[in-house]
Amino acid sequence: MAQITVLELQKKKTGNQKISMVTAYDYTMARLVDQAGVDMVLVGDSLGMVIQGDDNTLSVTIEDMVYHSRCVAKGLSNAHLTVDMPFMTYQVSPEIALQNAGRLIQEGKAQSVKLEGGEQVAPTIKKIVQAGIPVVGHIGLTPQSVHVLGGFKVQGKAQEAQEKLLLDALALEDAGASLVVLELVPKELAKRISERLHIPTIGIGAGVHCDGQVLVCNDLLGLDLRFKPRFLKRYATLEENVLESVRSYVRDVQDGSFPTDKHSFTSERKSSKLRRLY
Ligand code: KIV
Repeated sequence: MAQITVLELQKKKTGNQKISMVTAYDYTMARLVDQAGVDMVLVGDSLGMVIQGDDNTLSVTIEDMVYHSRCVAKGLSNAHLTVDMPFMTYQVSPEIALQNAGRLIQEGKAQSVKLEGGEQVAPTIKKIVQAGIPVVGHIGLTPQSVHVLGGFKVQGKAQEAQEKLLLDALALEDAGASLVVLELVPKELAKRISERLHIPTIGIGAGVHCDGQVLVCNDLLGLDLRFKPRFLKRYATLEENVLESVRSYVRDVQDGSFPTDKHSFTSERKSSKLRRLY
């Protein structure tokens, strides 16, 4: 089965079909979310927080993204693979941005790249798209600008900020972006932007009117129950399952309930290998 293309994702907007997107950072999770039928997988630079344990995404490098993208790519047979361009890999110049985007495609096996920013990144997007690499834009809360924004806060509450975000979205579409992520913006603004753009919008904390939704897989699965933002719907509480399972394992090892003979090999001829074969 071939992986979904950006053109097929765009057709979903015209066909009024919502796009589902989730992050993944390794082969195991990629295989599972692909099998579950997700349309798009994002190797997000959120890996700086959920994989590397940092407070923000700023320390993530292009090497990190290439490595995780390669791992994820091996687990996908259907979902479209898009990969974040990390901080300082596209801000210096469109030429450097193109080189880094090229690495994510060639070495990371991505099908498209995602980068943050509005009008100011339009020339960079143009350059990357002209080289044949599809780009996903990202506006609203742009975590790589956390120090300028003063934290992870809802953006575009004031009228002036809303007009600016609408212009940003139009500039991204104009520059050739294939889709746009809208993060933490009021639902009325997301509706306006989604109605004005021909390309799909993918929301996170942006309400019901976007053309698709994205969540961080660790959040969706409840792997860290301390994180409970308003926009999140948890579909599992795996933190509890993991704790319970590993605690049981520790108890079994300590009291000798594991391993048993059932889990052991013997030197007799009728070995477990032979039993499995016949
Ligand atoms: O890095 C990421 O996971 C993201 C999504 C939250 C959109 O950019």
